[in-house]
Amino acid sequence: MFFKIRSMGITGIDGYPVDCECDLSGGLPAFEIVGLPDAAVKESRDRVRACAKNCGFQFPLRRITVNLAPADTRKEGPIYDLPILLAMLCASEQLPPIPETSAFVGELSLDGRLRPVTGALPMAVDAAAAGIDTLYVPADNAAEAAFARSVRIIPVETVAELCAHLRGEAVIAPAECTETVQPDVFSADFADVRGQESVRRAVEIAAAGGHNILLMGPPGSGKSMIARRIPSILPELSGEEALVCTKIHSVAGLTDRSRPMITERPFRSPHHTISAISLTGGGRTPRPGEISLAHNGVLFLDEFPEFHKDALEALRQPLEDGSVTISRVAGSMTYPSSFMLVCAMNPCRCGWYGHPSGRCTCSAGSVEAYQSRISGPMLDRIDLHIDVPAVEFDKLHGGPTPESSADIRRRVNAARARQRARLGESGCNARMTTAEIRRDCVLDAESSAMLSAAFDALGMTARSYDRVLRVARTVADLEGSDRVETPHLAEALAFRTMDRNRK
Ligand SMILES: Nc1ncnc2c1ncn2[C@@H]1O[C@H](COP(=O)(O)OP(=O)(O)OP(=O)(O)O)[C@@H](O)[C@H]1O
Ligand SMILES: [Mg+2]
Ligand SMILES: [Zn+2]
Repeated sequence: MFFKIRSMGITGIDGYPVDCECDLSGGLPAFEIVGLPDAAVKESRDRVRACAKNCGFQFPLRRITVNLAPADTRKEGPIYDLPILLAMLCASEQLPPIPETSAFVGELSLDGRLRPVTGALPMAVDAAAAGIDTLYVPADNAAEAAFARSVRIIPVETVAELCAHLRGEAVIAPAECTETVQPDVFSADFADVRGQESVRRAVEIAAAGGHNILLMGPPGSGKSMIARRIPSILPELSGEEALVCTKIHSVAGLTDRSRPMITERPFRSPHHTISAISLTGGGRTPRPGEISLAHNGVLFLDEFPEFHKDALEALRQPLEDGSVTISRVAGSMTYPSSFMLVCAMNPCRCGWYGHPSGRCTCSAGSVEAYQSRISGPMLDRIDLHIDVPAVEFDKLHGGPTPESSADIRRRVNAARARQRARLGESGCNARMTTAEIRRDCVLDAESSAMLSAAFDALGMTARSYDRVLRVARTVADLEGSDRVETPHLAEALAFRTMDRNRK
């Protein structure tokens, strides 16, 4: 006796169909799962056996063989508990046959309840293409899966409830997509940041072009405060971007049951003790790392020089590619990881170098040693090096109320609109290719001379040359200028202070 139940698996942030076949034959009672299962899938046997018994079914005393097809991809996690149980119940005729357009995922607890799974949204998104019209998921995942819209989502609380539904005794209502467009309400607003006009300007340029930045300044100057406010001036997340962000969080098991859709740009700020794997993703059961969770948003590395060297090295490739590829024994997978990198650091070990109080006790050599902890290649990938001076008393105490995030965002949006018109829907200056730079950042004779002088004076590389031009293009976009003029270039060059210090 044989029966097949359809299910879904995850590779990267995409779903793919998995068939769960069950064969019952004579011979000594046994229960085997084949088709590249991992340890968690193998443990399904015990959960399925206990669950079948506790839900009042008979566990067939036959030779049970379960095959998870396609057999050449590794099956991960306990999500096949439910389809394995159903295939076995159908094969032993304890349940009526289930149509091939239905698919099931879910982890079982021993009493027949369903536990939530990771990746429900991407599985639901890609189910329709596999000819599936109804996807049964654990109730906790239903709200999230319903965003896919292309398939019917049936929320399952318990096996007993599901069996009643499949027998037509008590129908479970499909989950509805409850998308509510919520206006962004940021608790942190740029209106709180007093003074710091030059830093505010630099951060506005960075947000307008999606550029990576390094904030450097003494303790308490507001670096962390400013970094946290950057998502509030980035353009609103588009529907498509929101879906990708939610898929990544879904695969990582980080979606919120009551509000599963990610509607705000992510802001991730991992601690400096983070390992390379937690940062980039991977591991035995692969999960997206911080850089993918920050996709379409901000990755904030506070106390930048304190991060492990190998963690920072691992950032280099994703920063260039906008995605990260993780190689594993059973093939490789790719997660999107296009984020704005925001780093913050003190200028020296004691923190106070350059502070007007003269409190710094570090020698010139030790300041240099501290700053050179940031490797050249890493510095090369940062478009704007921003000095954050200590806030002056007058600015902090009284003075006009600073501009709010909403006002800054309006200018950022206008600059982004110009970039989209030139570079296509998902384009932004920070990701311009060399060919696009040649086309869109044509310099006149005066600007060329300025750049040539700066190239030698700052010891720029080919990469930082491109970066300066990208930033200059963003300054021009904020001004509403089609051409990159000398003042735009001059402002961009002023943000390479670390190159200057290195010389
Ligand atoms: N420009 C500012 N306007 C208003 N308040 C500020 C400003 N800068 C700093 N503050 C106040 O100082 C606090 C500390 O700032 P923040 O934590 O951002 O400093 P930091 O530069 O990150 O320091 P550290 O180097 O020690 O991490 C903020 O929470 C805020 O209350
Ligand atoms: Mg800080
Ligand atoms: Zn110092």
